[in-house]
Amino acid sequence: MPLTIEDITIFCKKKGFVYQDSEIYGSLAGFWDFGPLGIELKNNIKNNWWKYFIHNNEEIVGIDGSIITHPRIWEASGHTRSFIDIAAKCPKCGYKTKLDKDELKKAKCPKCGSAYKEQGKFNIMFTTNVGPVEQESIKAYLRPETAQVIFADLKLVQENARLKLPFGIGQIGKVFRNEISPRDFLYRSREFEQMELQYFIDPKKADDCPHYEKIKNYKIKVLVAGTKKETPLSLAQLLKKKIIKNKWHAYWLYNSYQWFLHLGINKNDLRLREHRKDELSHYAKAAIDIEYNFPAGWKEIFGSHDRGQFDLTEHEKHSKKDMKLYDEETKQKILPQVIESSFGVDRTFLIVLFNAYQDDKKRGNIVLNLNPGLAPVKIAVLPLVSNKPQIIKFAKKVLDDLKKHYNCAYDQSGSIGRRYARNDEIGTPFCITIDFDSLKKKDVTIRDRNTTKQIRVKIKDLPATIYKLLYKK
Ligand code: GAP
Repeated sequence: MPLTIEDITIFCKKKGFVYQDSEIYGSLAGFWDFGPLGIELKNNIKNNWWKYFIHNNEEIVGIDGSIITHPRIWEASGHTRSFIDIAAKCPKCGYKTKLDKDELKKAKCPKCGSAYKEQGKFNIMFTTNVGPVEQESIKAYLRPETAQVIFADLKLVQENARLKLPFGIGQIGKVFRNEISPRDFLYRSREFEQMELQYFIDPKKADDCPHYEKIKNYKIKVLVAGTKKETPLSLAQLLKKKIIKNKWHAYWLYNSYQWFLHLGINKNDLRLREHRKDELSHYAKAAIDIEYNFPAGWKEIFGSHDRGQFDLTEHEKHSKKDMKLYDEETKQKILPQVIESSFGVDRTFLIVLFNAYQDDKKRGNIVLNLNPGLAPVKIAVLPLVSNKPQIIKFAKKVLDDLKKHYNCAYDQSGSIGRRYARNDEIGTPFCITIDFDSLKKKDVTIRDRNTTKQIRVKIKDLPATIYKLLYKK
C-alpha cells in the first residue's frame, strides 16, 4: 500500500514530530505545532539551507525582518490588490477549495464529481491592528512572504555589508496566509515558514553569469506549460525555449534543485514545472516551480521567480525613496532586477519525511532513512543492561562526551532490540551499545541504522569514528 499523507500525519503525531495545534480545544485548521523531534528536524533543514545559500556564498548575507511591517509595504507590493483567491464550494457535498478563474469553469468536486459554485474572492492576507486604542490603531498585515522586508531594507543592507551587484539577501521566517482550504497536513497551512533568497543583478548584465558555462548542459525533468508529460531539458534548452529568460535565473534554479538533492531527496521524485502565462504571480516575469512526486501526485515545493524590477519600482513609487544602488564601476545608479528562490520549510520537512520513510517488513518496524545531517538525534547511547552500575557509568561518560558535539539520546529501558527499533523509527543514524566486554576492552559497538551492521570501536577512537560516519559524504 503506498504511503499516504494521513500515514505521515499519524506517524508525526505518534513520534513527536508534529501535532495539530490546540488539539485540546478541537484545533484550528491550518495550524501545526512541532514537537521535540520535529523542531530538531526543522532546525536542521533551516541550518542546512542557511549554510548552503548564505554561508557558502560570500556575496550573500542574511537578515531577520519583522513579521508585521508598515502596511504600505503591501500596497506597494501589490498584495492588497492582487493576493486574491477565488473560493469555491461544491453545492452537493459542501467540499471547499480555492480555484483560479479558468479552473472554476472546468473543475469538478473530487468527492462527488459535481460542478463547483463560486463563493467570492478573498484577499488571503491576515490583518491585525497596531496600537492599543482601537480608534487610533492602524490596520496592518501579517506578512504573506518574507521577500518584501528584504526589498524594503535593500539599501541599508547593501551599504552595511558593502555589497556590489550581483549579490543576494536571504531570510528564513514565518509567513501567514488565510488559506481558503488548508489541507494535506503541512502542505497547505495558514502559518508556515519560508526560506527565501533574493538575488539582485544589474538588468543589463542578466546574462553575465560566470557559473553558467559549467551548468548549461545539466538536464532536469520539466513539465512545459501546456504539455501533459515531462521531458528532460538542459538549462540551455530552458533558456532557448524562453521558459527562463536569463542565465542568472538558470543558475539559481539549478542551485535550488541541487539543494534538494543535497538533502538526499530522490531525483526521480523531483521535476520542474513551468507556470502558464495566466497563472504568473502579479510580480513575476517568469516562474518555474520544483515539484515533488507525492503519493497523491506532483505538487509544488519551491518557486523560482524572475521578479524583474517590479518590486523595487513599486517601492520607489510608493515610498518616494530612491531604491537605486550606486555602482562604483560604471559610476551609474542601477535599479536591480531580482531573481527569487522561494523555499517552503514545511513542505521541505514533509518531503524529507516522505523520502525517508520505509516500512521495513523484515525488521518489523519503520526505518526513517534520513540524511544523518538532518536526523533529529544523531546518536543514541544504549547500555546493554540497566542493572549494572559500572555499565551505566561507562555509558553516561560516553554520552557526556558526545553530547558536547551532537544531539544525543540515552535509553536504558526495554530490550535492546526494542531500543534499536525506536531509534530506527526516528531516523537516528547510529546507536552506541555498551556491553560487558566494553568494560574490559574499553570499547563500544556502533550500529548502523540502514544496514544494522555493528562495528567495535576503541573508546579513544570514538569521536573521530563518529565524525567520519556522520559526515563521510
Ligand atoms: N515570495 C514568493 C512566494 O511567496 P509562493 O510560490 O507563493 O512564492 C513559495 O510561495 C513557497 O512557500 C512555496 O513553494 C511553498 O513551498 C511555500 N508555501 C506557499 N504557500 C504555502 C502554504 N499555504 N503552506 C505551506 N507552504 C506554503
